[in-house]
Amino acid sequence: MLVRVSGRSRHHRTVDFDERRNCVRLIEQRLLPHTFKVVSIPDHVATAAAIRDMVVRGAGAIGATAAYGLAQGARAFGGRGLTGFTRHVERVFQTLAAARPTAVDLVNAMIQVRERMQSGTTVTERQRLALAAARAFADEDVAHCEALGRQGASLIREGMRVLTHCNAGWLAFVDIGTATAPLYAAQAEGRNFHVFCDETRPRCQGASLTAWELAQQGISHQIIADNAAGHLMQRGEIDLVIVGSDRVLGRTGEVANKIGTYTKAVLAAHHGIPFYVAIPLSTIDWNLRRGRDIPIEEREEAEVLGAWGVTTSVSRSGKAIRRYVRIANPTSGARNPGFDVTPAELITGIITPAGVFPPGELWGRRLELGGAFRPA
Ligand code: MRU
Repeated sequence: MLVRVSGRSRHHRTVDFDERRNCVRLIEQRLLPHTFKVVSIPDHVATAAAIRDMVVRGAGAIGATAAYGLAQGARAFGGRGLTGFTRHVERVFQTLAAARPTAVDLVNAMIQVRERMQSGTTVTERQRLALAAARAFADEDVAHCEALGRQGASLIREGMRVLTHCNAGWLAFVDIGTATAPLYAAQAEGRNFHVFCDETRPRCQGASLTAWELAQQGISHQIIADNAAGHLMQRGEIDLVIVGSDRVLGRTGEVANKIGTYTKAVLAAHHGIPFYVAIPLSTIDWNLRRGRDIPIEEREEAEVLGAWGVTTSVSRSGKAIRRYVRIANPTSGARNPGFDVTPAELITGIITPAGVFPPGELWGRRLELGGAFRPA
């Protein structure tokens, strides 16, 4: 998307690759919305750390980062033997796979890269194929987001008030985003609407990232406290909810997404408000049989006990000063599950690049949606 920094507009992808230096290039999302900075990640171990520490986050974006990370690790191999190379690639794969557990895109992306490398008969050829496959994954992510934007655009009607949770915008993918794609498409078709962004404690991706994206894009929006949605729904001030997902079970239609999504789905069902989930195909898990089996990331207590932000005063060089402040009682601990699972019956439709379907229809459409059977 176009980013305006210091009065200049430039197109940026969230994730990119510098072939000459064998570096993954990422927008440093922990600094947004206060500072826009692109960082170069020099090796696959640092790439895994960037995913774990949330320099980059969001299902599609960490999928593309892992795909590039696998190619980066493969390209760093100095030997010539295919056996040693295969062992090395497996270690790189495991290092990246361990970075974050819930979003299935990360592993799906690397499986795609690993499979496409296999046709190479030498190490050099496989290294070349790995990078080509990672680039193909990133391009496909963009194409999927574009397509699902077209599929979902007609859901956004003139004057609607739309609620979204967390950030399923272009920062969470390679470009365009999922929950935001129908919004951007409706805007391009000339419709006006208003978006409520849940702030999304504890890391506030809604307040910091989604709000920044919508502001960059000139879309009318307001940030609301996570607890305000029920009140607005009760007063008839929300017409539609649209969120992204980190894993959708192809067999059951259950949706894992940022913590608090389930609460919003229950509220939307109670008030008869349509609730949509927008995803690229890499977010579908065709193997798991039950939502309860989705690994839910437990994150550190500090995220709940305090918050990151910038001070209102600036440093001598005119830069905002980024600080963590403790909010909670000093002797209290916290529990911090990062995601929850919304049952299929609370979801009106899944917006995919191939169409908008009730969650229960995914399994019947698995060939059309690219469902590959892989050993769990
Ligand atoms: O912890 P995050 O920021 O990586 O969470 C992932 C998400 O961005 C959300 O769950 C989002 O709504 C899903 S779409 C990428």
